[in-house]
Amino acid sequence: MPDLTATAVACPNIAFIKYWGNRDDALRLPTNGSISMNLDGLCTITRVTFEPDLPADALSLNGIPASEPARQRVQDFLACLRQMARTELHARVDSHSNFPTGAGIASSASAFAALSLAASTALGLDLPLADLSRLARRGSGSACRSVPGGFVEWQAGHGDEDSYAVTIAPPDHWALVDCIAVVSRSHKGITSSEGHRSAWTSPLQAARVADAPRRLDLCRRAILDRDFASLVDIIELDSNLMHAVMATSTPSLIYYQPATLAVIQAVRRWRGEGLPVGYTIDAGPNVHVITLAEYAGPVADRLQGIEGVEQVICAGPGGPARLVSGDDAPSDAPEGCRTGG
Ligand code: PMV
Repeated sequence: MPDLTATAVACPNIAFIKYWGNRDDALRLPTNGSISMNLDGLCTITRVTFEPDLPADALSLNGIPASEPARQRVQDFLACLRQMARTELHARVDSHSNFPTGAGIASSASAFAALSLAASTALGLDLPLADLSRLARRGSGSACRSVPGGFVEWQAGHGDEDSYAVTIAPPDHWALVDCIAVVSRSHKGITSSEGHRSAWTSPLQAARVADAPRRLDLCRRAILDRDFASLVDIIELDSNLMHAVMATSTPSLIYYQPATLAVIQAVRRWRGEGLPVGYTIDAGPNVHVITLAEYAGPVADRLQGIEGVEQVICAGPGGPARLVSGDDAPSDAPEGCRTGG
């Protein structure tokens, strides 16, 4: 008889080669592979308890009952697991993230990675890493990359069976730091699920997707060789391509704000002066400035000095999703979130 309860923790991740657009929206099968780095010290911790008398799944986020769409999304996700475990039990899900919500760090990746591990363990399913990653993908595509640790590649695959993420290098392989320049905390108007659906309305999406294998090769090689200059070249190109697709989709999505561009220009200027920095931007206005660990302090200080930058959050490479004791305090225990090398 399984315990029916388990608690797991997972990091968010920053995509170096982006996932944007699905071949299959229901299964979240991506049109192209992607590469990311888990973000150490930032985490979501989720406790799942299946209870016999619960009429529906219940979800609380940071101690507050979640909105109905968020609860429904978790219920739809747990339906996949109920089918796998042949159970009809519903669950109480309590999830806490230690990074500011609306800070442009996608919490859905860490949330669905932690939920997949906690819920499958609670039901007594001892899933191998690949199956756990496939499961997390059903909740949020990028969540499949928060299941394994370090530098991670999500293979687009041919179908549900082979579309999952694997570690290409462990967290201690390369001391990169993501200095996140938070320029706005307002929630984005359009969810990434809606964005993925509109990707193919852009005439640029076909070109972005056709060139993806080349960018994946260059990015993977730059990581394995610890070649910072090549990494920066390819992540900036990839980010610019995705934002060009977004801006030319119907409806047109422009996530940049004036301070986003101010940070991009500053990063280019600093690189010209010899500082190892590069930028990448997900579906929001905040800028992820990638640098080497020894430069993270000065880079964060410079970013803080740019008008419109509200906060800078720095994170190195993080480890895999893992089970923790149910007593771990989620919100005020950043040490408990350290999973990196
Ligand atoms: O996993 P989703 O559906 O939230 O999509 C993530 C999309 C981007 O963050 C923009 C890119 C990526 O690969 O993470």
